[in-house]
Amino acid sequence: MQNFVFHNPTKILFGKGTIPAIGPETVAFGSKVLLVYGSGSIKRNGIYQQVSDSLRKSGAEIVEHPGVQSNPLLSHVREGIELAKTQKCQVVCAIGGGSVIDEAKAICAGAMVDHDVWKFFTGKKSITAPLPLTTVLTLAASGSEMNSGMVITNGETMQKFGFANKKLYPKTSILDPEATFTVPADYTAYGAVDTIAHVLEFYFTTQDPATPVQDRFMEGLIINAMESCDRVLADLRSYQGRADLMWTSTLALNGLTAAGLGKVGFPMHLIEHSLSALYNVPHGAGLSAIITGWMRHQSQDIPQRFAQFAERVFDFRSGSTKERAQKGIDALEAWFQKINSPTSLAALNIPDQDIQQIAENAVALARVWRMPDYDSERIQTILARC
Ligand code: NZQ
Ligand code: ZN
Repeated sequence: MQNFVFHNPTKILFGKGTIPAIGPETVAFGSKVLLVYGSGSIKRNGIYQQVSDSLRKSGAEIVEHPGVQSNPLLSHVREGIELAKTQKCQVVCAIGGGSVIDEAKAICAGAMVDHDVWKFFTGKKSITAPLPLTTVLTLAASGSEMNSGMVITNGETMQKFGFANKKLYPKTSILDPEATFTVPADYTAYGAVDTIAHVLEFYFTTQDPATPVQDRFMEGLIINAMESCDRVLADLRSYQGRADLMWTSTLALNGLTAAGLGKVGFPMHLIEHSLSALYNVPHGAGLSAIITGWMRHQSQDIPQRFAQFAERVFDFRSGSTKERAQKGIDALEAWFQKINSPTSLAALNIPDQDIQQIAENAVALARVWRMPDYDSERIQTILARC
């Protein structure tokens, strides 16, 4: 158990019928509200109406910034910053999944400075006092609703960079599982993959040999993500399934799993961000295409950790350490295939000859993330396994 500071300031309102609380929770920080959302799902499923009614009833004046796309773009962030500045918005309210919440975080940060917001992503400037943010989550995946991270794609440089800053935590996030009833099966599956990836990143990169508290917690989250995803894919309007999947995905990346693990990495995301930057693949789909390739690469160094994963998550107890490690990876890959999430670059129609270009793109982020052991050659070796 390593030393740690755990401080997650985000207030969570969880459950059926919580969306009307967004008005009071938001105007507590100011009545001029920038409302950020995507390309239309919230208009079709009635969430837009619920949120704007609640904001107006609380006396908010709403400025709209719609059109956030999946894998949000720097150019659209800049437009949102301009709007927030000219309209003197005092608080930002994000209604959507990780893309909308991340873009909103970037707007909160950029609205309070005169330099370009991308300088935060390349580490040239640090965040001082972003605008306050409230959110209504509509897709269980990224964990952005309760963390301090954000990921934006610079369309000019084809770089998808992400980082965390403790001032970026949302003040309040509303998690109503019914808001995710309309998430289609494919994005439900991608969200479960993303949730599992967030846990695996820390589970397999911690250097601490004895972390039983965190291990059992992480193994439980992975099992819950799979079981609740299966329940939801069997019935997209299963409240229990959607509620379990939503809370599991929030817990998977809100700092709790990493507390006490010491230094951890994010290597699968390092590589996936290049896939999404270059091919605009959904984040979770990019992850399932590379996770098992990365695991087969990594299990060579720490087979016993992978054997523990196989035993605790899939109950494989027989065979040698190496055999159990292999069986666990194969079982996870089989589950990804069962939920129709791609498990190879070929399934994403990404040709082998692009591997070098993907690796070069990822090395730039590895530098910003200070992961010197992820050089182009190692990334190409991993991608060749995918
Ligand atoms: O734009 P609309 O019309 O809303 O459609 C969205 C979008 O096309 C749709 N959708 C969302 N909620 C819906 C819905 N459709 C029907 N019903 C609903 N209730 O789903 C599509 C995908 O939405 P998106 O927000 O892109 O998905 P997700 O939540 O997986 O977010 C992905 C983004 O999160 C970033 C990823 O890089 C990616 O850009 N991440 C953020 C992290 C963080 N802040 O800590 C960490 C993660 O690892 C991840 O990198
Ligand atoms: Zn992710």
